[in-house]
Parts: sequence; C-alpha cells; structure tokens
Amino acid sequence: MENLADKLNREPPEVLRSIKLISGIAEELGYPVYAVGGFVRDIILGVEDFDLDVVVEGDGINLTRELSRRLKVGWTAHIRFKTATIHIPGEVRIKLDVATARREIYDLPAALPKVNFGSIKDDLKRRDFTINAMALDISRDSFGELVDFFDGRKDLRDKVLRVMHDLSFIDDPTRILRAVRFEQRFDFYIEPRTLKLLKESLSKGMLEKVHNHRLRDELILILKEPDPVKSLRRINKLRGFKFIHPSLAVDEKTFALLKRVDELYQWFAGNFVHKHKHKVERWLLYLIVLLENLSMVKLKRTLQSFAFHKKDIQKVISFKKDTAKVVSKLKKEISISGIHKILFPLSYEVVLLMLLKSGDGRVKRKIQNFLRVYSGIQIHLRGDELKELGLRPGPDFKLILKELLDAKLDGKFSTREEELLYLKNEILPDSAAIPAFRQESKKP
Ligand code: CTP
Repeated sequence: MENLADKLNREPPEVLRSIKLISGIAEELGYPVYAVGGFVRDIILGVEDFDLDVVVEGDGINLTRELSRRLKVGWTAHIRFKTATIHIPGEVRIKLDVATARREIYDLPAALPKVNFGSIKDDLKRRDFTINAMALDISRDSFGELVDFFDGRKDLRDKVLRVMHDLSFIDDPTRILRAVRFEQRFDFYIEPRTLKLLKESLSKGMLEKVHNHRLRDELILILKEPDPVKSLRRINKLRGFKFIHPSLAVDEKTFALLKRVDELYQWFAGNFVHKHKHKVERWLLYLIVLLENLSMVKLKRTLQSFAFHKKDIQKVISFKKDTAKVVSKLKKEISISGIHKILFPLSYEVVLLMLLKSGDGRVKRKIQNFLRVYSGIQIHLRGDELKELGLRPGPDFKLILKELLDAKLDGKFSTREEELLYLKNEILPDSAAIPAFRQESKKP
C-alpha cells in the first residue's frame, strides 16, 4: 500500500498542524480518521488545496466539537448528516469539513439522497469519480496510508475520469458539469463508458431537472476556473446551455468575446485595482457575456430563478440595458465631465465589458481614459472644509460638490487655491439655496 506521509509532511505548516491535531483528537476518541476527496487527489497531483475534507468512522460532530474547543474557533454543524465545518484562521485560511462516514441512497434522480452511516469504503463508494474516491489515512498509527479501493490512483496516473457506478450522473446530474470541469482543468480524459453515461444522462434532460440553485453553484465554479472558456466550449458541444434557459444559444461571436475576457481582466487587475480599490469579479464578467443573447425578459427571469446575488443581477441587467445607450453617447463629442457622468454610476464589470464590446476607437479611448484618469479625479476640498465655509449638508451641498468636480474634470482649475476661488466666485454666488454662505460672506 502506498504511503504518502512524506507528501503530507510537506503540506503548508498550517495544514499539517490542523491534520496532526485532528489525528490526535481522533485517537483520543478512538475513531479511525481520513482525509478524502479533492484534497487527496490534489496532494498526489502536487496542487495546493486549502479545502480539507475529513471523514471519521465515528461521530464527526464529536470530533469537531473538541477541535473547535482546542482551536477556540466557532463551527457549524448539520446534525442530521453528522457533518460540520470549521474555518481555521491563520496565514492561509483553511476550510475544514468533517463528516461521519456514510452511505447514501438516492430514492429520486437529481434529488438529495437519504443518508445512513457506514464505513470509509461506503463513504468513498458514493462519490463521483474514482480520482475523487481515495482516502488518506491520517490516524496516528497509519499516518499517510493511501486507501484506494477503486483504483483511483491508477486513473489519476493515467489522467482518466471514471464514474464509480452507472447511475452516478442520474443520481446527481451536477456531476456532468463537474466531469467537464475536471476534464478541462487537469486535461483529463473522460473514459468511453463514463462519456456514454454522461451523454445519455444529458439527452434524458437530467441537467434540466436539477434545482437551479445547485446549477448556479456549479456554473460559478466553472466560471471561476483558470480557463472557463474551455469548459464552456465543451458544454456547448455536448448539449449547449438549455439547462440555463431553453433558448440560450452561445454563438461564435459570444465565444470570441468570452475568449478576450481574461485578457481584459488581467489588464484591469494589473493596472487599476490598487488605484481604484475596485474589485472586479472575473467570473461575473464571464457570466454577463455568456448570457448576453437572452432577451431582457428571459434574462431577468433566469437570474432570479437561479437566485444570484442581487448586486450581481443588477450588473448583468445593467450591461444589457445600458450598453447601446452608453456607446452611442460616447461616440459623440462630449466633455470629460460628461463622460464621467455616464460611466461613473456603472459598475466596473459593466464598464470593462463595454470596452470589450465597443469596436469604435473614440469610444474605447474615452472608456480607457475614464478608467485610467477621470475615475480617480477628486476635488481637494473636503466636506468639513465646506462646512467651515458656512455650507450646510443637504441636497445643495451635494450639487455643489458635483459642480466642483465637473469643473475640475473639465480642466477649469487644478490647485487647491484655484478650486477655492472657483467655488467662491463661480459656484456659490449662483447658488440661491445657500443662505449660510451669503451670511458668511457678508461678514467683514
Ligand atoms: N463529491 C461527489 N459528488 C458531488 C460533489 C462532490 O461525489 N456532486 C465528492 C467528491 O469525492 C469530491 C468531494 O465530494 O472530491 C468534495 O467535493 P468538492 O469540495 O465540491 O470538490 P473537490 O473534488 O474538492 O474539487 P475542487 O478542487 O473543485 O474543490
């Protein structure tokens, strides 16, 4: 039997420390304990993974309770399934899932299974692919021994994805999307029988039977892969995106845009993130493009039924709703403050994608200048300095700040002194709603 203690001992210190602690507690409680699933696969592949899945032949909740007491961190439990989750703080944040070894019985296709408790072998047997169905014994006296009942080690060496049994994709059709994700991520090969089962399950419409919230989670995982376009192409070829919406067609034009998203993201991340403190969600850029061919009504319905976060939904809709209008405004002669007024209220994801979408050099330059320069321009005077001038906070106050910013954007002044003069001479005298200032300025 292969022993991977050496590899385990080379894990980052935080991970190793957690594993050793779990191992000690499990020994005290008399439970055999294993690392399982993706963590084992990744250790063999030499890929860093801070999601640690542990299975005990005992009571997973008991073990987690003790672990949390010693680490002094909170935990959450799923009492019925006897599973628990702990986030272990440190230089790297480790997500630890502890489960009680179980058997699963699927009464209904695509629904969640019934659970009985069982052995580690039962627990591994219910999993998706052989490469994810290995365990690493982390019990003290057999530390590092690979538990491989289903030849996962061989499949991993041969780069083969193989389901554990013929009903795997029927029991849990999200595994179709997982298969594509792993195939593309690792450059693995879906062996012929597995591919046949996958295609059969697709043609039975199994993916469409899955609850949209689960599909959403899988879709996001795909979009977060280093190269999601490979997986999207593969899905498109296998069945297309009917599982998102029956009329969603992703054509070559859309794929051409999808292919450029990463370059766009890297350009932004490399040049602008620190300056603007804006975090652009890369996966969301992909989602917005992927869904671009849906009509507004279908788009809204889809986003709602998948229950994406409200702020993400707004961004997808804003791209659909605002792009044509914004691009046509930016084609015209327009002041810098005008550009700012149009682009500033939009999210950076939407602005970036407008840049990607627009073929017009004038529009592109305006958007790039906005990102590079205009979006970072601020006035010198702060709110409390304006209050000292006798201005009272309120709607007018905001209008004055905006007017001042517009003037600065349009190059009417640059230094602090010039700004103050401009405020006093050009803005305040016309601002009828500022009695306080007039009183102030009448003072000798
Ligand atoms: N699993 C499964 N069927 C699923 C989801 C998960 O059998 N539909 C099992 C697999 O054994 C998997 C483990 O649960 O390895 C953990 O799942 P998860 O954390 O979602 O995936 P990982 O395999 O760790 O993959 P990733 O690297 O993408 O996190």
